[in-house]
Amino acid sequence: LFQTAPYIPPDAIFALTADYLADPSPKKVNLGQGTYRDSNGQPWVLPSVRKSRQILQDQQLNHEYLPILGHAGFRKAAAKLVLGNSLYQPLEKKIASCQSLSGTGALHLAGLLLRYCRGTSETPTVYIPTPTWSNHFQVYSSLGFKCQPFKYYDSDRKGLDFESYISALKSAEPNSIVILHACAHNPTGCDPSQEQWREIGATMKERQLFPLFDAAYLGFNSGNVDNDAFAIRYFVQELKMEIGLCLSFAKNMGLYGERVGCCFVVTETESAAKNTQSVLEMLQRSEISNPPAYGAKIVTTILEDEELTQLWFQDLITMSSRIRSMREALYNHLNTHKAAGTWEHLIQQSGMFGFLGLSPEVVRTLKEQYHIYMADNSRISIAGLNPSNVEYVAQSIAECLK
Ligand code: LMR
Repeated sequence: LFQTAPYIPPDAIFALTADYLADPSPKKVNLGQGTYRDSNGQPWVLPSVRKSRQILQDQQLNHEYLPILGHAGFRKAAAKLVLGNSLYQPLEKKIASCQSLSGTGALHLAGLLLRYCRGTSETPTVYIPTPTWSNHFQVYSSLGFKCQPFKYYDSDRKGLDFESYISALKSAEPNSIVILHACAHNPTGCDPSQEQWREIGATMKERQLFPLFDAAYLGFNSGNVDNDAFAIRYFVQELKMEIGLCLSFAKNMGLYGERVGCCFVVTETESAAKNTQSVLEMLQRSEISNPPAYGAKIVTTILEDEELTQLWFQDLITMSSRIRSMREALYNHLNTHKAAGTWEHLIQQSGMFGFLGLSPEVVRTLKEQYHIYMADNSRISIAGLNPSNVEYVAQSIAECLK
């Protein structure tokens, strides 16, 4: 049976982490996987998360199953966070939600749901911006969707290619699904402006396209959840559109390995929400039975407590400001070392990543000769930079570009 199994090369991002860990060089720098590091290059357990864990420890947790849809308090608190209180209240009964295995699990669950709800008619096309997070195509093609890439980034102008974006939406077949990075576009760090989001939304509404938001960086991008949730709230509140939303607490709470996320759908009617949630429950049961409890309890403890929530907001500012300052430091060092080319794009981008625009050869040389690891498309996780390595990285890039 397995003689015919093809060999699938390892996932490029996880393979890069493995290569980095195996590299004995003291100079090595990991700018690959998008995981936050503190200014000493260490993983950071957020103070709000530490406090939440302490509270949970004192509660002497047991290890019973969560319900199939997940932790009820978590689902509610997460929906309130994304929509904001004033939008959440009137919509509460029109939301179907299901706790998921982080953002990837939410994307997968949303795909299962959309395929299921389409019934026997043709599986819709999923429009995916390119470049995008490396897993998007895989998640949807593995579910049997036709994935249609569209141009998101203009590598000559080093910015969002808004004209291509809008024209792709205008030519998409109605009822298609469009993947939208809610903020902090991965890998380019280029988000539409609020004005551009309005146009994207209006075009999608007119073309009857379904917005599926991938929200992996809410609050982590700007340090403020409300800012980062602009597009989501605009589509729901102003455009009154049905949306899908895939939320992850990996980055914004540093809960990477706890796999805590949520898949939401905002529907038009209460009965649609009730039925949709029942479908989610059935799909979840057949996939994972019920989701892991610990991470959801950490998040809920934070979001249900005003003081802890404020502490978390501070943590978001700590992370996003450190990233911003490293972005600027890299930019300054690149200029001081006269790295060939212009680097303004780096400080115009936002979020966890910098999209440098280096050739694959330069990326390879940086890895092989300088022990600097980044994705093949020259995306760097800015959080991997710190005061001890940022100049070395800039100087190495400058040398490679000579
Ligand atoms: C990344 O883009 O590096 C992260 O989201 C980690 C991952 O799972 O790919």
